[in-house]
Amino acid sequence: MLPKELVRFKKLGKPITILTAWDSISSAIVEEAGADVVLVGDSLAMFVHGHTTTLPITLQQMLDHTKAVCRGFSNSINKHPLVICDLPFLSYQCGEDKAVEAAGSLLKDSCASGVKLEGAEPETINVINRLIRMGIPVMGHLGLTPQSVNNLGFRRQAENHSSQKEILNKSLELEKAGCFAIVIEHVPDEIAEKIKKTLKIPVIGIGAGDKCDGQVRVTADLIGLTKTQPPFCQPLIQSRELCVKALKEWVAQQRL
Ligand code: KIV
Repeated sequence: MLPKELVRFKKLGKPITILTAWDSISSAIVEEAGADVVLVGDSLAMFVHGHTTTLPITLQQMLDHTKAVCRGFSNSINKHPLVICDLPFLSYQCGEDKAVEAAGSLLKDSCASGVKLEGAEPETINVINRLIRMGIPVMGHLGLTPQSVNNLGFRRQAENHSSQKEILNKSLELEKAGCFAIVIEHVPDEIAEKIKKTLKIPVIGIGAGDKCDGQVRVTADLIGLTKTQPPFCQPLIQSRELCVKALKEWVAQQRL
């Protein structure tokens, strides 16, 4: 599937499901679960590498994880989920040439078919334009944008009228720039729904209500692998607890 085909999902009213993966075990599980898209999110900086923000992850690390994700699929390239990889902090903030090189290397050396980047500042819009003209599909990301944690914190965004107007305008700019979809993170449900109704491209929500064209979740949160989850992601199962219990039993048995 090509990234732009997700627009057809929206036209047909078919909900889009996106789950993150960070290695070959998680991508195999997510593929078997039937997700449409696997996102190699830079949240792996926190979930896998133990950082407190997404900022420290490097392009090389993102590439290594994306390659591992691709190796985990059991289906061939046309049948496994679409793979989108996050452009890490500082790989697209320093100009268009550097961004093309970074995004290009992810597509060249892995099975990823597109990249995701955060924000819609004028410089970012220029980068998006250039990437798309160079044959690199781009997914936008607005609302809580973790690479701007030092400006925004990890708080809910677009809580007042002016910031809601701003996020709607930015989402229109991303659509105009040619993004094939946009992630909207941790904003009030009503504004996410308004953006979804305004745009022709799919709006994928996380912590943005259930009225979006699709949903994305960090798989580790959704399966309860982490000690704490964000307020908008209730775990479906308590994997961490189950694993600790099973492993404790095994350790105890070895000591009998
Ligand atoms: O990095 C990530 O996992 C993400 C999702 C939260 C959308 O960007």
